[in-house]
Amino acid sequence: MDQIIDLTRLDEILAEHASTPGGLLPILHAVQKTWGHVPPATVPAIAARLNLSRAEVHGVITYYHHFRDKPGGKTLIQMCRAEACQARGCDALIAHATKTVGCSLHETNGDGSVTLEPVYCLGHCATGPNIQVGEKLYGRMTPSRFDEIVMQSVRPGLEFA
Ligand code: FES
Repeated sequence: MDQIIDLTRLDEILAEHASTPGGLLPILHAVQKTWGHVPPATVPAIAARLNLSRAEVHGVITYYHHFRDKPGGKTLIQMCRAEACQARGCDALIAHATKTVGCSLHETNGDGSVTLEPVYCLGHCATGPNIQVGEKLYGRMTPSRFDEIVMQSVRPGLEFA
């Protein structure tokens, strides 16, 4: 079933950014912040307001991994893959994290509790590897701390083997 879109909110977003050069990206960010993804039903209005084709808007949504056209999991976990965190072992951490939560990067796990996304710098490079769970940033992440955080804040009561 299609999601019901608050057209008043969509109009506010379009009014705020449509006349800005390069306004498509801020619009998509605001839409995703509002609905947790970019609902396909918003694309025709965005395209019309910016004098773009629907295909052009869709192309930008699919080009940037940050944007999702489907709802994500209950909790978004962002894992930094930029240079400083790479040097501090983020790839091994990510490999561990995908096993813990049960999905790969850019995916949502089977019970819908977690979406795992890569990010390219969270702005705290000295404390890597860094992750962000919802709005909260965690530095010096290790596999065991990752599991603790997931157990405590994402899936309370769940125990890992
Ligand atoms: S490189 Fe990971 S926070 Fe900057």
